[in-house]
Amino acid sequence: MTEKKIVLRAKNVQREFVSGDTTVTALRNCSLDVSAGEFVAIVGKSGSGKSTLANCLSGLDRPTSGTVTLLDRDLATLSEAEMAGLRAKEIGFVLQKDNLIPSLTIEENVAAPLVMGGMKLSAALDRARDMLAEVGLQHRAGQWPSQVSGGEAQRAAVARACVAEPAIIFADEPTGSLDEENGKQVQEIFHKLVATTGAAGLIITHDMDLAAGADVVVTIVDGQVVSTERKA
Ligand SMILES: Nc1ncnc2c1ncn2[C@@H]1O[C@H](COP(=O)(O)OP(=O)(O)OP(=O)(O)O)[C@@H](O)[C@H]1O
Ligand SMILES: [Mg+2]
Repeated sequence: MTEKKIVLRAKNVQREFVSGDTTVTALRNCSLDVSAGEFVAIVGKSGSGKSTLANCLSGLDRPTSGTVTLLDRDLATLSEAEMAGLRAKEIGFVLQKDNLIPSLTIEENVAAPLVMGGMKLSAALDRARDMLAEVGLQHRAGQWPSQVSGGEAQRAAVARACVAEPAIIFADEPTGSLDEENGKQVQEIFHKLVATTGAAGLIITHDMDLAAGADVVVTIVDGQVVSTERKA
């Protein structure tokens, strides 16, 4: 078997939150490798540290100690501007809800990462409309986020996270605010688009059904990685 390139590596990541004289240790010694094209699910109960881990891995937050390496770059060594540039180019992110910018249309939202990457607006909008067609939303392209359903907004958010073909796409409870049917649709679209772009996918969930389709399931309990199961 050929070794796949490691896109993301976390080594002994610790995150403490200090307020007054109390310290909450949200993550303890978390280590994890994600390879190109690999689909990873992070599962754990509410409060176990899943979002904190995703935020540290994606450069939204900085660990108290330990290292996070994305595409061979140690995130701790990057300036804010370098971090923002790396995030814009190589990381897609889908949150539970409210992903879209309300003052941009659906197609403008999806085009935004391309425009920020330097693509001309007309070309970016063409590409955004192609992506919207892939997630079944071509008829919503010119509408505002307030005019679409929660499921449609999440599908558009997945399209936006994937459009610039980042190296890794994170989704933190992407179906958490949806009913079962819409949740399933968003899940399928996330899997499909991540596979099409060849990116690594990292989904955070406490829904074992959502985790079932992953190549790797990482379980967190009280801020610690207690198991990493790789499908044969
Ligand atoms: N900014 C913060 N300041 C203080 N404590 C925090 C902060 N963010 C998270 N925590 C604490 O860290 C722990 C882990 O929180 P986190 O949000 O990562 O959990 P989670 O697994 O994502 O939970 P959920 O499933 O409810 O989203 C919790 O005890 C939480 O209260
Ligand atoms: Mg969370």
